[in-house]
Amino acid sequence: MHDLSSYNSFGLHVSAQDLIVVQSEAQLDEIDLEQVLILGKGSDVLFTDDYDGTVLIDEIKGVQIERDGPDYLVRAGGGVVLDELIAELVSRNISGMENLSAIPGTLGAAPVQNIGAYGVEIGDLIEEIEFYDLERHVLQTFDREQCAFAYRSSYFKEHKSDPLFISRVTLRLNSVFDPDLSYKGVRELDPKSPYELRTRIAQLRRQKLPDPQEVGNAGSFFKNPVVTEDKLKELQARYSDLPVYRTAQPGLYKLAAGWLIDKAGCRGITHGHAGTWEHQALVIVNRGGARPHEIVALAQYVRSEVANAFGILLEPEVRVYNRQGEISWEQL
Ligand code: EPU
Repeated sequence: MHDLSSYNSFGLHVSAQDLIVVQSEAQLDEIDLEQVLILGKGSDVLFTDDYDGTVLIDEIKGVQIERDGPDYLVRAGGGVVLDELIAELVSRNISGMENLSAIPGTLGAAPVQNIGAYGVEIGDLIEEIEFYDLERHVLQTFDREQCAFAYRSSYFKEHKSDPLFISRVTLRLNSVFDPDLSYKGVRELDPKSPYELRTRIAQLRRQKLPDPQEVGNAGSFFKNPVVTEDKLKELQARYSDLPVYRTAQPGLYKLAAGWLIDKAGCRGITHGHAGTWEHQALVIVNRGGARPHEIVALAQYVRSEVANAFGILLEPEVRVYNRQGEISWEQL
């Protein structure tokens, strides 16, 4: 049995039957297993129990940078720590990633959920992804379109039949600093360099989100829900301060799950050893020594309070695993 407490950012004391650290593509050729789960740093997972299969840790490293006209193409290993890569890039004045600063986790894990913050999603920056299909034993390359990026989703998340191991990610980045300042609270920053933007974004993040090194958490626990225009109007009639975001589809609007949870009276609560973060209700935290079932129970409580208050059923953003593998919230 292998302890997974340092491979899940909730810091839960769970273990796996076996654990293999993968440092090269060649190593993947040798792996022929029935039940596998691929992790980077485990920043977006909730284990409800011990895991009966083998956990593969993506530690493929290496960064190559080349110029392509006005752009840079940056190809890096899936196991490269995302924030360390961003730090290196801004030190060379290569920009585009700054809004994703201080997000925990690895580069290889980032496209799976199409992570995003402050108006930028990693999918927007992807040139191509190299991945190894562990069932068919082939190495493949997908361009951005094939990755099918959507809000906190991608081909790699939706494709459940064969385990896909992201070995290298190539990003298309800028040599000219053209910051995305579209997000509320970022507009006012007026940064002069990628380094300055990165520093300010990291500060913003720290004000709202707990550092998983100090307080176990997996970032936003739920996705921001999408509602129809009728539902939006119904809520706007009741709440004049309802935060609303447009989506790419006409007639559909995104609401802020954190706001809904907060308004439902669930910000900063504690049940047993689990709670919601005082400065951002969307984050469920391990207040120290939490067991998996306490995190699950708290999430279920929050979900039902929001459903009762607003008639909206929140969907988890974290991926949930039991002994056999990934399960949906409804299967819990
Ligand atoms: N709000 C409250 N109370 C709260 C939390 C939020 O009233 O307890 C309000 C805020 O005042 C704001 C709105 O809700 O008006 C949205 O809050 P925020 O700007 O913090 O962003 P979010 O929609 O809650 C999303 C991402 C975060 C990302 C931030 C910043 C999702 C599920 N979450 O949160 O991503 O960092 O935007 O871009 O899309 C993550 O995915 O793990 C994550 C942390």
